[in-house]
Amino acid sequence: MNLEEILREVLILVKIAGKILTKFFYYQDFKVYIKKEIELVTDVDFEIEDFLRKNIRRLTPDFNIIGEENFKNEEITEKYYWLIDPLDGTVNFIHRVPWVSISIALMDEKSPVLGVVYNPLSKECFYAVKNKGAYLNGLPIKVSEKEKIEKALLCTSFPGDCKKKGFEKCFLLFKEFNLISQGVRRFGSAALDLAYVACGRYDGFWEPYLKPWDTAAGMLLVKEAGGLVTDYFGNSYNPFLNTIVASNGLLHQELIKYTSKYHPEFLK
Ligand code: IPD
Ligand code: CA
Ligand code: CA
Repeated sequence: MNLEEILREVLILVKIAGKILTKFFYYQDFKVYIKKEIELVTDVDFEIEDFLRKNIRRLTPDFNIIGEENFKNEEITEKYYWLIDPLDGTVNFIHRVPWVSISIALMDEKSPVLGVVYNPLSKECFYAVKNKGAYLNGLPIKVSEKEKIEKALLCTSFPGDCKKKGFEKCFLLFKEFNLISQGVRRFGSAALDLAYVACGRYDGFWEPYLKPWDTAAGMLLVKEAGGLVTDYFGNSYNPFLNTIVASNGLLHQELIKYTSKYHPEFLK
């Protein structure tokens, strides 16, 4: 399997998918549905996923495709399969906030080997192939060199149902990181947040309860850009885990000192 050839094709597809997203974002109405409790989804999520699914199927007919909008809780047993988030940042999209992305990863068991995160509204396309580095619009990217948390810009988000999950501790951790860093951003597209760590705009990111399609492509970007990705306790990360910390590596110990202190419950 030639991953770089597959990447070339995926980059063409994601740009077309980005045109669908852009068209609706600026020019066309779309329907909003309640997916589960307070989780929202739109026509556009479905349309993009259908487009990617059909075309990626043609590219790699033997690989299973798991997209957010038709995930049925099935066990992942294949060696190679795709994880797709057709629209990461749906709530932003609904409010016409241009902080959204399309995230596509090819997995080898639980490790991404190819990842693309594209924000069609800013026209920034981040991509990586395992062991071949990470790129933004054709130029190599790397994580930041910040060594001190006081100089760091961090990023996180909260799950939509955070009220239900008893999230007081999350907010305390958010507050503490705000106080000890140059600030914490909370924009609402985890895939894009990870891409921003990869290119050195953010120095660190953490979040609980993300789904595999939120983080698979982004984690590869961070690793290929020289950063580190673990769970809240410093254990090596895979997208099926409950917690994620991504950083430039230099700040990692400092970040997990706090994530592990505030959230010992995730160790169970
Ligand atoms: C969401 C975004 C957000 C994160 C949520 C995700 P969606 O994905 O990645 O940043 O905080 O937990 O569900 O629903 O917009 O694809
Ligand atoms: Ca998502
Ligand atoms: Ca989504």
